Amino acid sequence: MAEKKTFYITTPIYYPSAKLHIGHTYCTSVADTIARFKRLAGYDVRFLTGSDEHGQKIQRAAEKEGITPYEYVTRIVNGFKDLWKHLDISNDDFIRTTDKRHEKVVQELFQKAYDKGDIYKAEYEGWYCTPCESFWTEQKLGENHTCPDCGRPVERVKEESYFFKLGKYTDQWLKFIEENPDFIQPESRRNEMIQFVKQGLEDLAVSRTSFDWGIKVPFDPKHVVYVWFDALANYLTAAGYLEDPENFDKFWPASLHLVGKEIVRFHTIIWPIMLMSCGLPLPKKVFGHGWLIVDGTKMSKSLGNVVDPVPLIERYGADALRYYLLKEVRLGQDGNFSLPTFINRINADLANDLGNLLQRTLAMVEKYEEGVVAGPTDKEAVDDELAALAVETVRKFEAEMDDMKIDDALNDIWGLIRRSNKYIDETVPWVLAKDADCVGRLRTVLYNLMESLRIISVLVSPVIPASAENMWTQLGLKNFKEVKLSDVAVWGGYPVGTHIDKGEDLLQRYDLAEEVAEAPKVTE
Ligand code: ME8
Ligand code: MG
Repeated sequence: MAEKKTFYITTPIYYPSAKLHIGHTYCTSVADTIARFKRLAGYDVRFLTGSDEHGQKIQRAAEKEGITPYEYVTRIVNGFKDLWKHLDISNDDFIRTTDKRHEKVVQELFQKAYDKGDIYKAEYEGWYCTPCESFWTEQKLGENHTCPDCGRPVERVKEESYFFKLGKYTDQWLKFIEENPDFIQPESRRNEMIQFVKQGLEDLAVSRTSFDWGIKVPFDPKHVVYVWFDALANYLTAAGYLEDPENFDKFWPASLHLVGKEIVRFHTIIWPIMLMSCGLPLPKKVFGHGWLIVDGTKMSKSLGNVVDPVPLIERYGADALRYYLLKEVRLGQDGNFSLPTFINRINADLANDLGNLLQRTLAMVEKYEEGVVAGPTDKEAVDDELAALAVETVRKFEAEMDDMKIDDALNDIWGLIRRSNKYIDETVPWVLAKDADCVGRLRTVLYNLMESLRIISVLVSPVIPASAENMWTQLGLKNFKEVKLSDVAVWGGYPVGTHIDKGEDLLQRYDLAEEVAEAPKVTE
């Protein structure tokens, strides 16, 4: 028997310092889509998300509210979990860096690097961006002592710290990147990181002594481990490092860390060097996605344009939001969210193209065939054309999804949807239905439409899982959860004699002017 293919995919673990917004929703939706695609393609998938709960930023936020950091993060993390549930996120695990299992791993890594001679005690004197939890030297700062990443003011820090010898690994890192050209994607990010490292890597402060909300350094408990050293290790913890050797062996190294562009540096420089120091295998790929901006500007609390995904999901459904985010943004580039383009997408692609194809087809099967799908009896050129396009679409879909070109894959699926709608107009089933001599031809046409819909429902499932399952059920089919991509690779799999199970309309249409006028509260 061939060995089972495994795939371990992660999102970043988010800071529970505020409510999650549509940018986080974007990242998690992309990861979920890839995870679902891989399952469909027959992989044994492990999909991880979680929360990054330690550090100065969290401690301060909790102090401001007069509660303990743990109480503070727990409340917010429960909100994360609810959001992911409402968004149909299929994560296999949710890691909190306050989990006991994680503390052990972080301490073990710290100890290993220390025993190797890669960690030493000194004093840190320099600058710190608390929102980014990031150390900066004077030369790297922006105007007026601001963080070069986020633009906010940095703080002066002077305290005893342990340092990690990043610099020692410069050559090993450069060699690794050269030998693994796909490790950092997209390529523009890879080039940025190479430039960054070639300017020289400074040793990194990896412990703090001026506050205590963190994991203690095992041999010097007055220090807490620097929050990024702690956070990055989450990927090992959740794979079962130390606790579950069987799973760890199966899923490590990770296949893909999907992260936002501003944290590519942590994931492609600090993280691999931590693993090198500890003698552990490096992940296969880090992909840096772009930012979601809103009506052309970056979301920020001070601008008051932070889009909350919850009211959008409540009003339009998780599938509509997922579809829009994946279709509208090219992975790796920035994308824009606006309510009118969102409504237009739902109406045009989901309600009109996809919803209509399903509704029209099921209505005809019900009206002309009393809900039962008979087998095809003949074949015309137009049928061959539809079948060939369907097979070709499955093939392209798989290649594009593997290449993380999700928007291209969606374009191709919608090409098949539109071709199927056109097929109805070309074959005019309502004319065939009037002529007793055409019953065979009518049955062929209806069969082909049902088969096309069967294939389409599988292809759309990584992006709009609830609607896909709903479609599948309305087509009269069963066991959607077990379906694989290979089940739709060949034309003709729709079982003859099936009784359809027509239900409610799949996807609703909205009035653009009305939606914009009484826009659900999208800002907070
Ligand atoms: O960085 N568009 O957490 P975080 C797209 N805890 N993505 C966005 C976005 C936007 N507008 N705003 C934020 C951290 N993100 C660390 C990670 S991993 C070991 C530790 C994305 O809560 C951002 O790019 O600040 C990042 O990938 C993720 O949200 C987490 O942000
Ligand atoms: Mg951030």
